[in-house]
Amino acid sequence: MRTDALDLSTMPGPPVLPLVGSAPWLAGREGVIQALLGLAPKYRQTGVFRVATPSGDAPILVINVAQAEAVFDERRFQKTLDGPLLTIREFTGDGLFTAYSNEPSWGVAHRVLSPGFSSEQMERYLPAMHVVSEQLLASWRKATAPVDVVSDMTKLTLDTISVCGFGYEFKSFELPALHPFLQALGRALQESTDRLSRPALLAPLFRGTLRRFEDDRRQMFELVDGVIARRKQTPRTEWPKDFLSLMLSEADPKTGQLMSDENIRYQVLTFLVAGHETTAGLLSFTLHQLATNAALLSRVRTEVDEVLGDGAPTRATLLKLSLTMRTLSESLRLWPTVPVLTVAPVEDDVVAGFAVPAGRPVGVLVGALHRDPAVWPNAEVFDPDRFLPEASRARSTAAYKPFGNGSRSCTGRMFALLEATMALALVVREFDFTANGPLAIAPTTSPKPAGLRLTLRRRAR
Ligand code: HEM
Repeated sequence: MRTDALDLSTMPGPPVLPLVGSAPWLAGREGVIQALLGLAPKYRQTGVFRVATPSGDAPILVINVAQAEAVFDERRFQKTLDGPLLTIREFTGDGLFTAYSNEPSWGVAHRVLSPGFSSEQMERYLPAMHVVSEQLLASWRKATAPVDVVSDMTKLTLDTISVCGFGYEFKSFELPALHPFLQALGRALQESTDRLSRPALLAPLFRGTLRRFEDDRRQMFELVDGVIARRKQTPRTEWPKDFLSLMLSEADPKTGQLMSDENIRYQVLTFLVAGHETTAGLLSFTLHQLATNAALLSRVRTEVDEVLGDGAPTRATLLKLSLTMRTLSESLRLWPTVPVLTVAPVEDDVVAGFAVPAGRPVGVLVGALHRDPAVWPNAEVFDPDRFLPEASRARSTAAYKPFGNGSRSCTGRMFALLEATMALALVVREFDFTANGPLAIAPTTSPKPAGLRLTLRRRAR
């Protein structure tokens, strides 16, 4: 480590008060992440700042591309778990998302599950994705009042991943409210964020909340264990080619090891968690943007009409919807649905001139990275053409990380983009829509528009 590195305690940031840390600067109706994004412009010059949460965590936050380039070097920094991810690990265990990079189970699952994300497999998932998208359209055709976008996108993405991944049908669009599993998951995820603002000393006062968390966890385990048990009872010749079959039947090509039952439970939960909230948020933000940006909606719709016509989408036609896909990319730039990536130095290291000891968590605040004015001019302007191939090639690869970094980046990226492109294309092809107001962000673990409702009209064609 450089000897002239500055002491971490001198890193700039909002004041830290006894007991509550930087809480007054992290409070706000839109939650901690939006508060951090609001603070970020003050610290552009250093490219990093630090805060202290009431729970006792003291995250260092990287906000500029130049500093992110260093922490995305996997020889120097590795993914670690901090803040909400530690709570989420209590129900997703050593599943892919919440495993430590040096946990052997991560390597095993990564190798066993990789074939589940091949282009060939994507082709297989497409019909099921289409069926669920049609369920959304059918429910929207019947709507007599403005639709609750986040709730409907959540139903769409949960049902899609559960059918494609594990052959389990939540049938969410037939239910009057969110499925009890989703309610349990929603509460457990919220708890992961709420713990940050709870002073460690007061934790014993939250026994009821802890009990609720335990109940929710049990309820989620029960559902997942049932799905696994049913598959095991089905004759092997009838097993679909999905993630669950892969996990139950394939040995790790490197070690010959089969995945344990407990680890399979964690992976199923991981896919349900990682595979739906993020895509639901992406679709909701994009629909709000299209509802309030008539020129863009018209361009996207022209593309969809030209490429899809009245036909059913195929993987080949979806991949031709380049403006639609760029629109999704731009949504993820402004509203990344995984808002912080946490890494830690493998050995003592230096970030933005500050000494960071080995193992000390460093968070990349993705929404701030995606607004670094050194790389993103007029960063608040929604412009899908930032993702035209030439413009993308000209940027540092560290400038845009909605799907994470390196070996720990999102394995479901192509799945998510196909699913979202299909849903968006089918919606704009059929409906005109207006939003109930300007964008507000909900203080959820994975950011989403707050209270967004769309008034729908079948499109005159
Ligand atoms: C728009 C949608 C999505 C976004 C923005 C997203 C984002 C991310 C990010 C940022 C990470 C890395 C997290 C970290 O470094 O801590 C990640 C990991 C992961 N994602 Fe996604 N994701 C999306 C959809 C999906 C879907 C649909 C699936 C499953 C089909 C999925 C499965 C995973 C898994 C398994 C990991 C862990 C990978 C590993 O560490 O080996 N994601 N995702």
